Amino acid sequence: MSKGSKRWLKEHARDAFVKQARRSGFRSRAACKLQELDEREKLLKPGQTVVDLGAAPGSWSQYASRRVGPAGRVVAVDILPMQPVRNVRFIQGDFSDENVFRHCLDALAGTHADLVISDLAPNLSGIRVTDQARSMHLAELVLDFACRTLCKGGDLLIKVFEGAGTEGFRRELARRFQRVTVRKPRASRDASREYYVLARGYKV
Ligand SMILES: C[S@@+](CC[C@H](N)C(=O)[O-])C[C@H]1O[C@@H](n2cnc3c(N)ncnc32)[C@H](O)[C@@H]1O
Repeated sequence: MSKGSKRWLKEHARDAFVKQARRSGFRSRAACKLQELDEREKLLKPGQTVVDLGAAPGSWSQYASRRVGPAGRVVAVDILPMQPVRNVRFIQGDFSDENVFRHCLDALAGTHADLVISDLAPNLSGIRVTDQARSMHLAELVLDFACRTLCKGGDLLIKVFEGAGTEGFRRELARRFQRVTVRKPRASRDASREYYVLARGYKV
């Protein structure tokens, strides 16, 4: 297949994800990534408690809210504002700030999370080494957050950017969770270094 045809096919597929997200009433095509991972891995279940880090504009929260249903609970955090989502408690702020963490605990109302999902992306400087270091720092903070909020046996889904530090991070996850797998959903652009690490069965 020629390069041009390949590009056409990829762009067509990308459009398909935008259309699919729009048809389902999602705010962004990012929902397609979570949906694909959920359908493959059976991540979300009715009645679960989920924390969504880096939630704006809110498509993962929309998807999670639909899946956990009225008996479940979704707590979403972002530095940016976010339009309300049904059955989602939104907290605006930096998730690594202790005050914001306390608000999250209040919203969890004494329960532990079954699942922490993080689609967080750092502010990019354009300098690759700096951006990779920022992204790994963010990932470490997410792991710390997850260890403080997950129930025993709980799961963590986290976006990371391939580069320096990712292998060590996966090893760290493997020490704290029973199973660690790496996934690149179809809706994630090939050119992007992003992929998702799914860590299941938090050991506490
Ligand atoms: C790729 S977007 C998330 C898209 C979202 N999953 C969706 O489906 O709509 C990444 C988000 O991470 C947020 N973010 C980055 N650093 C953050 C931090 N320290 N605390 C909270 N949110 C942060 C950004 O504001 C941005 O909205």
